[in-house]
Amino acid sequence: MSNSKVAIITGGASGLGLATARSLSRKSWRVHVFDLSVISEDTVEPELSRCVFHKVDVASWDSLSSTFDAVFKAEGRLDFVFANAGVMEKGKFFERHNPSSLPPEPEELSIDVNLKGVTKTSYLAQHYFRANKNGSNGCVLIMTSSIAGIYPQSITPFYSAAKAGIVNFMRSVAPIFYQEDGIRTYAICPASVRTNLLPEELWDAYPQEYLTQMGKVTSTVESLVYGSKFEDSWGQKFDKFTVGLVVEIFVDDVYFRGPPSPCNDGMEFILELMHPIKEENARKKGVETQV
Ligand SMILES: NC(=O)c1ccc[n+]([C@@H]2O[C@H](COP(=O)([O-])OP(=O)(O)OC[C@H]3O[C@@H](n4cnc5c(N)ncnc54)[C@H](O)[C@@H]3O)[C@@H](O)[C@H]2O)c1
Repeated sequence: MSNSKVAIITGGASGLGLATARSLSRKSWRVHVFDLSVISEDTVEPELSRCVFHKVDVASWDSLSSTFDAVFKAEGRLDFVFANAGVMEKGKFFERHNPSSLPPEPEELSIDVNLKGVTKTSYLAQHYFRANKNGSNGCVLIMTSSIAGIYPQSITPFYSAAKAGIVNFMRSVAPIFYQEDGIRTYAICPASVRTNLLPEELWDAYPQEYLTQMGKVTSTVESLVYGSKFEDSWGQKFDKFTVGLVVEIFVDDVYFRGPPSPCNDGMEFILELMHPIKEENARKKGVETQV
C-alpha cells in the first residue's frame, strides 16, 4: 500500500486539474490523472514526477471504472478524488433550422462530460473510498461546477444545466456520504480562469481585471482537502465539519453559497422530514452541513 496519500484528478492534463496535480505532487501526494490527453513521461516536468497519466474518457463507464479499479489495485488506497474534467459547449442550441424537416440532433457533449462524467466519478469515488483498508473516514470528493452552475448562462445552456446539476447533485450526496462513510464532499464554482477551456482570442477579449487567478482555485481546493479553517469573503467560517459547501470563486474572493431557503413553513416542514441527516444524529456525529 502506498505510504503517500493518493488522489485521482479527472481532466488533470490541463488547466485547473493540472495546477492541482502539480500542487499536490509538490506536497508528496501520488496523483493519478485521468484525461483524454496524456502527457508523455518523456516530456513530463520534474514537478509532476509523482503523477501518473492515464488516458480516460470520463463519459465512458468502461474507461473510467476500469482505470479507477487499476489505480486502487496498484496503490491500495484512495484519499481524494477531484471530479473536474469538463468541456465548453460547442453546439448552437438556438440555431434556426428548415421548418419543413427534422432539426439535427443537439450536441450534448457538455452534459455527458460535465454532468454525467461527474456523477459517474462520484459513484466510483464512493466505492473505492469505502474499499480503503482503514475505511473512508476523512476521504474527500470535490466536484468542479462553475459560476454557470449558480447564474444562468444563456450563451451555453447545456453547460449551465450541467454545472447547476452538479450543485444539486453534490448537495444531495454530501450529507449521506458524510453521515454514512465520513466522506467530505464539496463543489467549487470558479469564475473565469485563463485555461485551455476557451480559445486565446476569447480570453484576450475578456475584462482582465475580472479574471480569477489559478492560485486562488488551487488554494481553495487544498483548504477543502485538508479541512483547514478558513473564512469566506462574507465572514462565514469553514472547517472540516462543514460539508456540502458550494464555493464560488471570483477574482480574489471566495463565497460559500447556501441552498435556497424554503418558500414557507410547510415546505420547511417537508424538507425537515425528508432531510437525510436528522438533527440529533448529526449533532452526535459532529456533522454540520450547509445542505
Ligand atoms: N477555466 C474556467 O474559466 C472555468 C470556470 C469554471 C469552471 N471551469 C471548469 O473547470 C474544469 C476544468 O477546466 P479548465 O478550465 O481547466 O479547462 P482545460 O480545457 O484547461 O482542462 C480540461 C481538461 O479536461 C479534459 N477532458 C475533457 N473532456 C474529457 C473527457 N471526456 N474525459 C477526460 N478528460 C476530459 C481535457 O482534455 C482537459 O485536459 C471544467 O469542468 C470546467 O468546466 C472552468
